[in-house]
Amino acid sequence: MQERCNRIPIALQVHTKTHKNPEIARMQLRQGAVGICCQKLGEAEVMVAGGIEENILIPYNIVGEQKLVRLARLARRARLTVAVDSEYTARGISEQLKKDGASVGVLVEIDTGGKRTGVQSPQAAVELAQTVSRLPNLELRGVMTYPSRIEAKPVMEETIELFRRAGLPLTEISGGGTGAEAVSKEIGCNVTRSGSYAFEGLERINTTTNPPNPVSCATRVIVTVVSTPTPERIIIDAGQKRFERNPPNPYGYVVEYPEARIYAMSVEHGHVDVSACSHRFRVGERLMVIPQHQETTLNLPEEVYGVPKGRIEVVWPVAGRGKMR
Ligand SMILES: Cc1ncc(COP(=O)(O)O)c(C=O)c1O
Repeated sequence: MQERCNRIPIALQVHTKTHKNPEIARMQLRQGAVGICCQKLGEAEVMVAGGIEENILIPYNIVGEQKLVRLARLARRARLTVAVDSEYTARGISEQLKKDGASVGVLVEIDTGGKRTGVQSPQAAVELAQTVSRLPNLELRGVMTYPSRIEAKPVMEETIELFRRAGLPLTEISGGGTGAEAVSKEIGCNVTRSGSYAFEGLERINTTTNPPNPVSCATRVIVTVVSTPTPERIIIDAGQKRFERNPPNPYGYVVEYPEARIYAMSVEHGHVDVSACSHRFRVGERLMVIPQHQETTLNLPEEVYGVPKGRIEVVWPVAGRGKMR
């Protein structure tokens, strides 16, 4: 990923919500990433505790007193930037930081078609940016959007033009999404945020041109067959609580037997249709499953194991596990 971004060229700010581990983040920084992103304040606290104190972006509206107090505490230790899409959020952050003697960088988020957060027009982005630039203890740094889509080019160009005309700072124009690095550049960004590439799940690669394979998709969950009630159905010891993911169906890809289909999940059990498999499954057998989405699946285990050639080479604690606040 770093080589890809160097070639484009565009600065890479790695999103750590995929692995939630400061050691992996440091590996990414050593490769040349300009900084890290954390989706939640709790994840940022973990990264700072792990020794990363430079250029941390939280591309998330931080709202509510408890979080603001924590943000201010963190901002006294680390160089933070946050994203905002409303005056309410910006004012809340500014007031708390002023009280606590801290400051943060701010990006104004614009919705360029992702239909999640973000102000709804270039004009609204400029208005919010003007407000931010007048608020104490906030340093306006630019704009961000997610995901980077080529259709966003005219909106981004207009936004950049309006910022320049208004004399607003635009140090950072930040886009994001694994696979969208070149698009980020094309639509005018100077930074791109990619995360999932580190531990990819099935969701974006399960296509005929990009089927699950050990190179493009590193995440595996090792499961055990705990019941073989009928010749067509086996039950594995991993259900919704393990994968933390409801449909889409199938729920995961069984590496050893791609014809097996995980068609349902109860809380603690995975239900697998094996009618298309010639193999006769037995209780106690272990299987490797590539989950639908690496992040929800990796949100709860205490550790992940780096297994390059069939042997565990490294154990990484999922330091930010369950840090949803
Ligand atoms: C705001 C933001 N930036 C960047 C990313 C990284 O995207 P990806 O995981 O596709 O690399 C995400 C992922 O959800 C995101 O929400």
